[in-house]
Amino acid sequence: MSLLRTKTVEQSIRDTEEPEHSLRKELSALDLTVFGVGVIIGTGIFVLTGVAAATHAGPAIALSFVVAGLVCGLAALCYAEFASTVPVAGSAYTFSYASLGELIAWIIGWDLMLELALGGAVVSRGWSQYLVSLLDIFGLKLPASIAGEQSVIDIPAVLIVLALTAVLILGIKLSSRVNMVVVSIKVTVVLFVILAGLFYVKASNYSPFVPPAQPSASTDLNPTLWQTLTGLVPSTFGVGGIFAGASVVFFAYIGFDIVATAAEETRHPQRDLPIGIFGSLFVCTALYVTVSLVVVGMQNYTRLNTGSPLSDAFKAVGLNWAATIIAIGALAGLTTVMMILMLGQSRVFFAMARDGLLPISLARVHPRFGTPARITAITGLAVAFLAAVVPLTELAKLVNIGTLFAFVLVSLGVIVLRRTRPDLPRAFRMPAVPLLPIIAALACLWLMLNLEIDTWVRFVVWLAIGFVVYFGYGRRNARLGLRLEQDYARALERTAEDITADRPRGS
Ligand code: ALA
Repeated sequence: MSLLRTKTVEQSIRDTEEPEHSLRKELSALDLTVFGVGVIIGTGIFVLTGVAAATHAGPAIALSFVVAGLVCGLAALCYAEFASTVPVAGSAYTFSYASLGELIAWIIGWDLMLELALGGAVVSRGWSQYLVSLLDIFGLKLPASIAGEQSVIDIPAVLIVLALTAVLILGIKLSSRVNMVVVSIKVTVVLFVILAGLFYVKASNYSPFVPPAQPSASTDLNPTLWQTLTGLVPSTFGVGGIFAGASVVFFAYIGFDIVATAAEETRHPQRDLPIGIFGSLFVCTALYVTVSLVVVGMQNYTRLNTGSPLSDAFKAVGLNWAATIIAIGALAGLTTVMMILMLGQSRVFFAMARDGLLPISLARVHPRFGTPARITAITGLAVAFLAAVVPLTELAKLVNIGTLFAFVLVSLGVIVLRRTRPDLPRAFRMPAVPLLPIIAALACLWLMLNLEIDTWVRFVVWLAIGFVVYFGYGRRNARLGLRLEQDYARALERTAEDITADRPRGS
C-alpha cells in the first residue's frame, strides 16, 4: 500500500518554507499570463496549421483549433483548481502526489520529461531550422553539417539552449523580463499575419469549408491505436477530419499547464495561477482560430502542406518581405517556448528532488539568484545533449502523448482530492465535479487513442524504464517514506514506554 502513500497538501506547503529549498516569489498574474503565451505560441501555429489543413481538415482547420482548445479548456479547469489548492512547484507531479499517491506521482514526473525536456529539444531543432532560413534570406549560409535537419551536431540548437539555461539560472524575474520582450515580438508578428492577411482573403478558398470525407491512404503503414483496436480506417476531411486535425494541432496548445509549475514563485498563487492559465489559453485560442481562418482564406488548403505555411501564404500573394517578418516572429516565438519548457522541467525536477525521489542535493536554491540553479543547469545540459545529437523527428510525437497522459491523471486527481480532502480551501473550484473532470479525462484519452501505435510503444517503454528507476532509487529515498518510518518508530517507542510504565496506551 505504500505505493499509494500520498503527501499531504499541508506537508507540501511546509516543504516550500525550508530556507535552502525556498524559491523567490516574484511573479504576478500578468507575468504568468505572458509566460503562458510565451510557451504556447510556437511550432504549432507557425508550422502545423498548414499540414493539418492540407491533410486532415481543410478550411475547417479553424474548427480543429476550437475542438483542441475546448479539450485544453477542460484540462485547464482541473489545473486551475489544483494550482489554487496546492500552490507548490511541480504542477501535475505535485498534484498527483497529493491525490493519487507516490507511484503515480513519480510516473507523472517521469512522463513530464517527455513534454518538457524532450519538447524543449524538439523545439530547439525547429529554432535552428528557422535560423538557417533567416540567415539564408540575408545571404549567409551555415554548413548543413552543423545546423538544421541534416546536421551531425546541431550547433545553433545547443547554443540557444545553453544561453537560455543561463538566463533561467540568473533569476525568475530576469527570465520573465526576457519573456515579455520576446513575446511582444511574436504576438506582433501573429497580429501582423492576421491584419495584413485579411486583405488577401478570397471567399472561394473557403468553399467547401468542410471538404467531403475521403478514405485515408497513408495511415496503413503507421496506424493509430484507435484504428488498431477497432479496425476502423480513419477518413481524411469531413467531420472526422476536423477531429483528427484537433489531435495534430493539440501540440499548439501545449504549455498552459506549465504556468502551474511556477506556482511557488508567484506572489498571490491562489488568485493569480487561474488567471495565468485561463488568460494565456484564451488569448492563444483566439489568435489560433483567427490566424488559421486567414491563412486558409489566403491560400487554397491543398497548397498549405509545407514547413512554413504562414510565410508561404504571403509569398503566394507576392509579399516576399512578409516572409522575413514571419521568420523573425517564428524565431522569437520558439525561443520563449524552449525557455519556458526548460523552466517547467527544472521546477518539476526540483520538486521531485526536494521530495527525495531524486537526489535531494539537487534541490538546493542558489542563495543569490533564488533559483534552483543546479537542477536548472543539469536540465539545460540534458536538453542541449538531446538537441545536439539525438534524431528527434519520430520522438517528437512523444511530446503529445506525454502531455495528454498528465492531463488525464490531473483530471482524475481533482475528483480524488475532492473526496479525500473536501475540507481544503480551494480558491478556484471547477464546476460540475465529477462530470467535467471525467469528460476532460475522456477527451484527452480520446486524443491519445488517435496517436500512432509506434508512439504508444515508445511511450510504454519509457514508462517501464521509469518504474525501474523508481524501485531502484526513488522508493527507498522518498522523504515521505522516511518521515512515515520515523513516525512509526516514534509511535512504537511511545507504546513500549507506555507498556513499561503500565499506562493506558497513547495517553
Ligand atoms: N505549444 C508549443 C508550440 O506550439 C509547444 O510550439
